[in-house]
Amino acid sequence: MSAARVGLLASLFVGALLAGCDRGPLADRATRTKRAFGAIRLPSNVHAAPALPVRFDVGRAATAAEIAAWDVDVTPDGHGLPAGSGTSAQGAEVFAAKCAACHGPAAEGQVGAPPAGVPPAPKLVGRDPREGFPFGQDPKLVKTVGNYWPYATTVFDYVRRTMPLTAPGSLTNNEVYAVVAFLLAQNEIIDKAAVMDSATLVAVKMPARDKFVPDDRKGGAAFK
Ligand code: HEC
Repeated sequence: MSAARVGLLASLFVGALLAGCDRGPLADRATRTKRAFGAIRLPSNVHAAPALPVRFDVGRAATAAEIAAWDVDVTPDGHGLPAGSGTSAQGAEVFAAKCAACHGPAAEGQVGAPPAGVPPAPKLVGRDPREGFPFGQDPKLVKTVGNYWPYATTVFDYVRRTMPLTAPGSLTNNEVYAVVAFLLAQNEIIDKAAVMDSATLVAVKMPARDKFVPDDRKGGAAFK
């Protein structure tokens, strides 16, 4: 093919490309939109979306019983603890039936493989190290109810809301008091014969309580 012929073919090709711009992928968005929808004109009285109603009138107010069923948080100072009670001996039965399969018979941590889709259950008993508070410096240290949790009331709150992992909320309040008593006794924090209820549980002083220091320094995030 002669050079002149190549040049002619090339210029024809470029011309075809440019002519196709209006239809092809290079056509600008406005052109494409106009082709698809025609010219869009809003009615002259449409300026803004209509105001939303104050109420949509869907659903209904929650009943007092429904709110009570959700309103179960317990604060460190014991606010929200329900009526009921339990002992370590009663808790041992609850633990054997509803917790040991995952946490191990003596709450030593997952024994064997966890159920499908469930992570290994942690150890719940253990007081060491009794001196100092080296968590964070030694990644091998395992935090437990006995060596780390600062409030017994939080153990109640946590167990009542989340455990057993596969059936949270299924324990009665007495069962929660009992199984918490069992965990506290196993950790040598309360006497095995002690009865746990809303008054005695608040009075339990956890071993790690004073190792948590509120960071009340002034000066903002940069200072801390
Ligand atoms: C199906 C397995 C399973 C069962 C049954 C189960 N747990 Fe757990 N539990 C877990 C897992 C997994 C975790 C860790 C959850 C996480 O870290 O988010 C856990 C965490 C805990 C913790 C917090 C431990 C920590 O230091 O962070 C406590 C306390 C606890 N379980 C108590 C109980 C009690 C009491 C029962 C019985 C009423 C129970 N569990 C039943 C799997 C289970």
